[in-house]
Amino acid sequence: MQPLSRNPHPRPHQIMTTSTTTDLTVANRTFFNDYAAEYDTKPWQKQITLQITNYIQQNLDFISIPKHSDPTTLLDYACGTGTISRALGPSVTSIQALDLSSKMVERFNELAVSSEIPSVRKARAIEGNLLTDDELPVELNGPEFHDFDVAAIGAGLHHFDDPAKAIGRLAERLRVGGVLLLVDFVDEGEHGRLPTGAEHTVRKHGFSEKEMKEMMEGHGLAGFGWKEMPERLELKLREDESVSRKGFLARAEKV
Ligand SMILES: C[S@@+](CC[C@H](N)C(=O)[O-])C[C@H]1O[C@@H](n2cnc3c(N)ncnc32)[C@H](O)[C@@H]1O
Repeated sequence: MQPLSRNPHPRPHQIMTTSTTTDLTVANRTFFNDYAAEYDTKPWQKQITLQITNYIQQNLDFISIPKHSDPTTLLDYACGTGTISRALGPSVTSIQALDLSSKMVERFNELAVSSEIPSVRKARAIEGNLLTDDELPVELNGPEFHDFDVAAIGAGLHHFDDPAKAIGRLAERLRVGGVLLLVDFVDEGEHGRLPTGAEHTVRKHGFSEKEMKEMMEGHGLAGFGWKEMPERLELKLREDESVSRKGFLARAEKV
């Protein structure tokens, strides 16, 4: 555990807190701060974003966001530049987006202002970590950060110290009937351990349907569903090598 010092020059979107954090959290913050400017700029990155967006939008019945007369709310956790917000944005009326990396948050907000999707255009990501064991800043404990219709993590779960704990933390933020949607890589054994250049930011290289079901049901979520993407995702984090991964959607709802 390493102490983080107070930042004397907070950005407007940055929530001030004194916190402790893990080595993996530090590695993720550093890596994604450095990587944010080019996160979704190269052809292979745009292709993956398109594949994930299309797959989510083709599977809205499977995801099954609850319908009611209130505004429909999304928590986009580990939001990055906003892939999940843009994919689910047409299905919701308001979005709260959070990420560990201030540079990812900045990039999310730069892209959001010119979005054609009203819920995304209104959304402003903030820097935050719901997975810490430190006391959370009051901003993250208010009503606008609870009772979500859908909470989603896109390609973030494999970066977290404790994926099961992360699922529990997001489940706490759902309203009854609200859906947790996880988008990540399928565990493919040795194949998933091919080098990408970001190994030091990763806790697990993928998840099986069984472990995902156990983690979601273990936190009181029901109606588990799992779908594997038919088209593989080609990652080219290193110039000389591309790594092909299989993506999945997992969903379950709070009862
Ligand atoms: C591979 S990117 C995915 C971004 C985006 N969700 C997407 O689908 O493109 C992983 C993101 O997880 C964020 N992250 C890593 N650990 C985190 C944590 N403990 N809390 C919040 N965000 C975290 C990183 O900063 C990064 O933006």
